Amino acid sequence: MTISPTPTCEHDSIRAVQWQDDHLRLLDQRLLPADERWIDCRDAGQVTQAIRDLVVRGAPAIGIAAAWGVAMAARQGAALEPVLAMLRTARPTAVNLMWALDRMKKRIAAGADADALVREAQAIQDEDLAANWRMGELGASLITAGSGVLTHCNTGSLATAGYGTALGVIRAGVAAGLIARVYAGETRPWQQGARLTMWELVRDGIPAKLIADSAAAHLMKSGAVQWVIVGADRIAANGDTANKIGTYQLAIVAKYHGVKFMVVAPSSTVDMATGSGEEIEIELRDATELLSTAGKRTVVDGAQAWNPVFDVAPAELIDAIVTERGVIERPNSISMQAMFGW
Ligand code: MRU
Repeated sequence: MTISPTPTCEHDSIRAVQWQDDHLRLLDQRLLPADERWIDCRDAGQVTQAIRDLVVRGAPAIGIAAAWGVAMAARQGAALEPVLAMLRTARPTAVNLMWALDRMKKRIAAGADADALVREAQAIQDEDLAANWRMGELGASLITAGSGVLTHCNTGSLATAGYGTALGVIRAGVAAGLIARVYAGETRPWQQGARLTMWELVRDGIPAKLIADSAAAHLMKSGAVQWVIVGADRIAANGDTANKIGTYQLAIVAKYHGVKFMVVAPSSTVDMATGSGEEIEIELRDATELLSTAGKRTVVDGAQAWNPVFDVAPAELIDAIVTERGVIERPNSISMQAMFGW
């Protein structure tokens, strides 16, 4: 069995975050799959807004975009402290954003000039891609031939430097002939699964079926899936994992049906300073995301909505956390400390 993703891997053709020497080009994820339009961010304020508005989304991708925002500001001779502070406020849950900004801040404190900060942002992006290839290999090695998998949200090239986390494992597992069936949940309300994951899979020629989020329990009961494979926005020191809203209920349903649950994320998503999932800030987004579909109001005027966009799957429901450093089976504080402790 060969599981060896490479830079020319046939199952990965998208790079959604592109540095263009003096500005950042982002594939506008709000418009996919109908429109493939690129947005040029020409200062750190525009990068902050692009992250906030979900032009670029996915934990690793927003960290990478923020790093480029800092590098761009340095090239423009801007004061960097306020830029770091502004980018930090863009979104609260994915720790990759803070991780990337802390990494840039450390280089600034060490006296890095604009060119060095450009190199640092490039390193953050390159390392993420390499981590994804490695995780693809590690995660796929856990999967038995002939398995079916269910994924949630979008964790592919669009959400990362390329290849993807959970979707990277699926790419590697399909390429190695281990995965026989791929299902993707639509991921209401923003529909990352329906709009983005299906777009990536179709574009890369990977056969997959979309399901309504509410079909997940029925699917698992049918025996068609052996693994639920998801990404993460923040993994706490005890293994509790924040990810797209709906992940928690998938983890519960998987446990009930004896389906295994895999979290795939680079070490930049691990936050050892956060003790447990209880401490993770869950982003609440505007109710209009839930009250409208594709920009069109679908719920009666006057109706209200509650729109938390992440939830936390407790470590006890997770069979494996896969990072580029290795696999932790049945994670807990001790195994997390052993792999990620200072
Ligand atoms: O709100 P989003 O689209 O930024 O949320 C993204 C997710 O929850 C992903 O599952 C997570 O960031 C992992 S992406 C590799």
